[in-house]
Amino acid sequence: MILSVKNLTKKFGDFTAVNNISFSIKKGEIFGLLGPNGAGKTTTIKMICGLIKPTSGEITIDGINALENPLEAKKLIGWMSAESILDEDLTVWENMEVQAKLHNFNKFEEKAEELLKYFDIYNFAKNKVSNLSTGMRKKLEIAMALINDPSILVLDEPTIALDPNTRAALWEVIERANKERKVTVLLTTHYMDEADRLCDRIAIIDHGKIIANDSPSNLKKKYGNTTLEIKTKKEVELKGYEYQKEGNNYIISVKDLSNDISKIIKLVGENNIISINVNNPSLDNVFLRLTGRKISEEKTESTKIYRILKSSR
Ligand SMILES: Nc1ncnc2c1ncn2[C@@H]1O[C@H](COP(=O)(O)OP(=O)(O)OP(=O)(O)O)[C@@H](O)[C@H]1O
Ligand SMILES: [Mg+2]
Repeated sequence: MILSVKNLTKKFGDFTAVNNISFSIKKGEIFGLLGPNGAGKTTTIKMICGLIKPTSGEITIDGINALENPLEAKKLIGWMSAESILDEDLTVWENMEVQAKLHNFNKFEEKAEELLKYFDIYNFAKNKVSNLSTGMRKKLEIAMALINDPSILVLDEPTIALDPNTRAALWEVIERANKERKVTVLLTTHYMDEADRLCDRIAIIDHGKIIANDSPSNLKKKYGNTTLEIKTKKEVELKGYEYQKEGNNYIISVKDLSNDISKIIKLVGENNIISINVNNPSLDNVFLRLTGRKISEEKTESTKIYRILKSSR
């Protein structure tokens, strides 16, 4: 295990932000903390990175007790915050230099060059950060987080507020770094598709508690359900099935698709069907099933963008 968290709790006054959580991450994994706004993701990460003190619990990083030996533990971590830490007025190279100095890393040139080349931004080394695209900034931030050759790369909402193309490009960057540089990754996200695409395992966190912890495919197998979406000409009654209805549009939960589909078509009547769609299980319906709520993307996005704007001023 490269990271192990045991009964970790963080209280702010009377409020419990992180409530007795435990999980561990194996070497080489990409592990995701997935949860909505205010679930306790950043608080968990900040405790792991030694930025805030837990109220109680244990954190072990590569065999080191992080609470007893915080300086030793910090050396093993590369951290990227959800809010940009880049200095806009400095060049790409100077930002790398500042980061290296923070780690008391004086002979950083070789490492910085290798990392900037690896992430394909070496040509921009002398450019001011203010001239970089959003995708390049993110790559620079990841490069900075890797300057001290960490055992574990911790990324807090790495693709927040990025457009879909830049997000997809960044997923590839993270995946490549994980495979080729053999760095374990812990990331937080509220994007279901991101967690599904990138993570070997996910802990779903809600109101400070871990409510599920498994691989995306196992979670979908266990909690996700296949639904059949049928649009009909006339109203029907689907006895024996659980379904939602909006006008003549029916979303039906099915347990055994190949068996149920023919039964449902019979119930509806073949001539009565306008269209029929099969929706495979997704992490969205896993979350819905576990919490009874949807992760509200829109609200999260606008709150976040506002916060990022505020913090970059
Ligand atoms: N310093 C603090 N003082 C008081 N409450 C705090 C503090 N930091 C966080 N909280 C509260 O703890 C809860 C968890 O916050 P946290 O930032 O960990 O959530 P998150 O899962 O990272 O959410 P987001 O998706 O918005 O980043 C929130 O209700 C937040 O308001
Ligand atoms: Mg957060």
